[in-house]
Amino acid sequence: MTLTIVGYGNVGSGLAKQFVKAGHRVTLTGRSLDKVQAVAESLGAQALPLDQAAKNVEVLVLAVPYDQAPAALAALGDLKGKVIVDVSNPLTADYMGLTVGFSTSAAEEIAKAVPTAHVVKAFNTLFAQVMHQGAGFGDAKGSVFFAGDEAKAKDTVKALIESIGFDAVDAGGLKNARYLEPVAGLNIYFGYGAGLGTQIAPAWLQR
Ligand SMILES: NC(=O)c1ccc[n+]([C@@H]2O[C@H](COP(=O)([O-])OP(=O)(O)OC[C@H]3O[C@@H](n4cnc5c(N)ncnc54)[C@H](OP(=O)(O)O)[C@@H]3O)[C@@H](O)[C@H]2O)c1
Repeated sequence: MTLTIVGYGNVGSGLAKQFVKAGHRVTLTGRSLDKVQAVAESLGAQALPLDQAAKNVEVLVLAVPYDQAPAALAALGDLKGKVIVDVSNPLTADYMGLTVGFSTSAAEEIAKAVPTAHVVKAFNTLFAQVMHQGAGFGDAKGSVFFAGDEAKAKDTVKALIESIGFDAVDAGGLKNARYLEPVAGLNIYFGYGAGLGTQIAPAWLQR
């Protein structure tokens, strides 16, 4: 697959690392092209300025802080028909709460900003350190929950998740991002509050 990751920070670089390893053609983009270039080069990805990075790709992973999402999306230009993977967690400044919830979610707000694109929530319940390390947890593999309203876009994201070795768990419509974003809050509590560290990930059991 050919895809663009917007943001080259903890999450953007971790996902880029895994996608490149899986054989995808990855472009990184961000506001500072010098920095994007340095990270892209180290990971075997291509670097492009924001206004060129959406042109020839079907999928964009939006890996910027939630409050920067509108600016980043606007800088990308026309996103009609594109699959936008939203990884964001709308955290308060102290990381102890969410700024959005109950009646909407970060993913739904982002979808409102790009009504002609197909937004799929995914990866938000994993620490970036898990993305860097990869899917394996001993004999088990990490789960990536994905939620969206377009079946084809969800199939694309499911394939992307599975291509890097994670279990892709269909979490329903985009509205269910209202549940997935608080799960990330709980994950942060376990990792930092309860001291379990960042090599942890939530999963759903079935029997
Ligand atoms: N860190 C985690 O463990 C984790 C886990 C799950 C989900 N998330 C979510 O993933 C997203 C990224 O988190 P992160 O930890 O990777 O953050 P980060 O390390 O601070 O990286 C953010 C990236 O976004 C870029 N950026 C910021 N504003 C931008 C704009 N207006 N246009 C284009 N690029 C912009 C930054 O580059 P410049 O500032 O140089 O432009 C940087 O490359 C957040 O929404 C977060 O909630 C994080």
